[in-house]
Amino acid sequence: TLPLLVDCDTGIDDAIALTYLACRDDVEVAGIVSTGGNVPAATVHRNNLVLSELLGLDAPVALGADRPLVEPPMFADDTHGPTGLGHAVLPEPTRTEDPRRGAQLWVDLARERPGELVGLVLGPHTNLALALEIEPELPRLLRRLHVMGGAINHRGNTGATSEWNIAVDPEAAQRVLAAFASAPRLPVLGALQATEQIAFTAAELDRLEHLAGSTSPPVARILADAVRFYFEFHEADGFGWMAHVHDPLVTAHAVTGEFAETRPLPVDVELAGTLTRGQTVGDELGRWGREPTVDLMTDVRPTEFVEHLLSTLEAGLGD
Ligand code: BDR
Ligand code: CA
Repeated sequence: TLPLLVDCDTGIDDAIALTYLACRDDVEVAGIVSTGGNVPAATVHRNNLVLSELLGLDAPVALGADRPLVEPPMFADDTHGPTGLGHAVLPEPTRTEDPRRGAQLWVDLARERPGELVGLVLGPHTNLALALEIEPELPRLLRRLHVMGGAINHRGNTGATSEWNIAVDPEAAQRVLAAFASAPRLPVLGALQATEQIAFTAAELDRLEHLAGSTSPPVARILADAVRFYFEFHEADGFGWMAHVHDPLVTAHAVTGEFAETRPLPVDVELAGTLTRGQTVGDELGRWGREPTVDLMTDVRPTEFVEHLLSTLEAGLGD
């Protein structure tokens, strides 16, 4: 089984990703870090505590920093709803949080299992950047790192050219990419070009609704109610009745190596631009004379992936 530390800002698509992981027999969720992003860290943390309990994940769930490294926090409650999970109504959490801070959980788990633990970042990079201050050897202690973030030389979904997970904490993302450039294996980056190819349509929402109606685990109800809100947001934003679902693609690729190819590319984060702060710039032409810093996900197979995701959820949550 693959031991994974998931650092996320749950978040509708983060919740789908966590559920996917819980449905896989070949994955051990070794830890969860609650990072502020879509909603404040404390709200993310509550979502992670409740979801991990309902999903039967007994991994430690640690609260991350309550703000990015430099800028004040920003939130996306228009996209994910004020609780981060759209229309879903969550029970009160009964399990207890891990007493450690999120950054310390990164360090402790990586040190306990050198060369084994895979890191998966589905939100801003704040806590991983803080973990690197405690343990600069993290890039060599982890087996590898997978990240959902960025829009490489591409329009953004937050600023004109910036993607949400990077835009919330550009300094953290820049430090993480710089540190992991020397890792034995380059971090795998799923940017918007890859993840925006994954769209749920009415057919996928119907399948989630069916799962929610036919089964007892409340997680299916939570996902259906959350995803319905995501559709309403996308419709109000002019995309029609659908939703882009980012985090699960990167998650499934981290587990299976499937559904996309990768290619090495030097990538850095713009911190100074007055119009482009938080942009992820890829040096396609080799102008910087620098070695690649990421393996960028390319050639996504959306139809195959969406079927894999839905059938994994149905097999794991269904009766
Ligand atoms: C990213 O931003 C968040 O809203 C999603 O959960 C995803 O991680 C997409 O830009
Ligand atoms: Ca996320």
